Amino acid sequence: MTRPAFRSAGNVRSLPVTLWTSRLLRACRGEVQERPPVWLMRQAGRYMQHYRGIRSSRSFLELCKEPAAAAEVTLYAREWLGVDAAIIFSDILVVLEALGLPLEFSTGDGPRLPRAIRDATAVDALRDPRAAAADLGYVGDAIRATVAGLPADIPCIGFCGAPFTLAAYAIEGGGSRQFARTRSFMYQQGPAWHRLQARLASTCAAHLGNQIEAGASAVQIFDSWVGCLTRVDFSEFVAPHLTALVETLPAGIPVILFGHGSNHLIDLITDCGADVIGVDQATDLDAAWARCGGPEQIAVQGNLDPALLLADWPRLRAATQEVLDAAAGRPGHIFNLGHGILKETDPERVREMVKYVQDSRREVEE
Ligand code: CP3
Repeated sequence: MTRPAFRSAGNVRSLPVTLWTSRLLRACRGEVQERPPVWLMRQAGRYMQHYRGIRSSRSFLELCKEPAAAAEVTLYAREWLGVDAAIIFSDILVVLEALGLPLEFSTGDGPRLPRAIRDATAVDALRDPRAAAADLGYVGDAIRATVAGLPADIPCIGFCGAPFTLAAYAIEGGGSRQFARTRSFMYQQGPAWHRLQARLASTCAAHLGNQIEAGASAVQIFDSWVGCLTRVDFSEFVAPHLTALVETLPAGIPVILFGHGSNHLIDLITDCGADVIGVDQATDLDAAWARCGGPEQIAVQGNLDPALLLADWPRLRAATQEVLDAAAGRPGHIFNLGHGILKETDPERVREMVKYVQDSRREVEE
């Protein structure tokens, strides 16, 4: 690893002071604070009436490609919830579309990629990473519009999918349970697999670079499906490419690595260069943090079970408090869910939970 950790990157500071000292970035650096910052994966989405209203006159992909509307959705959710960061409204799969794979979202069955990758020829026919990233300029435009509308001390988080999760979507042609095609491709067509990973990593690196250029002051890499891999497979087929991607990013911007179902991989993911490790609800936050080096080494993000937002307030409050207790006020905790908000969620519940976290206080010794 040659990229210095964000917490030791004081000399390469490139952000305005209001963002550098925001709760989120202070947590990313492991600074002591009276309460953790809080934001939520999928904080803008179908559970919100405002979102459904904007979405009713356009498709999901049209919304992603319309910067003013994407910014409005992003800003509304941030402000209505009162959370400590915005995450740009977009999707991890737009990168595959820009690489030349047609993408469809039909209601009910999730994303579909009808021209799935099945062989080396299809890998080599993908578009050039820089050209693909340039075609995603609408994400940068949405970030610029978002940043212009945010309070000066609220960061906008940029994001992309991890090369493994994107490859899995590209090879399966959509969602999957077993990832048999992906695993088979990985084992049987090693050189093509590594070329695909490298191309995805370069495209994501350029895409994240453009988002940072546009004003994103932290980035999250979503590895939603990495949990299906063993440690040995992760190390051989995935880690070198995730590391290469992180290495290209500027040291003055924190990188959050989130792997769903990744309890057994958490130390290996950390070693790919994470400044913050995202943990899901099946992971013991305290134990995972210790395995990654603890608060002295790294920040941790998580991990309330999103389904608990469907519970009554006493149960939700108890579960929220459990997450706070697991972090025990130690520096470097970012409160979040273990995965995205479910569309059945009552927005008022979410707001109540956010307020509870923000009202939690610990004694800070100066
Ligand atoms: O967090 C946010 O508020 C930012 C927006 C965001 C979306 N997708 C919006 C979205 C983010 C960060 C994502 C990431 C994403 N997209 C991931 C990684 C996170 C995870 O959940 O593991 C993945 C795997 C995807 C792929 C994807 N996009 C799926 C599987 C779906 C279908 C979901 C479903 O329930 O049908 C989408 C569509 C999508 N992305 C929606 C939203 C708000 C719903 C689209 C709609 O309006 O119909």
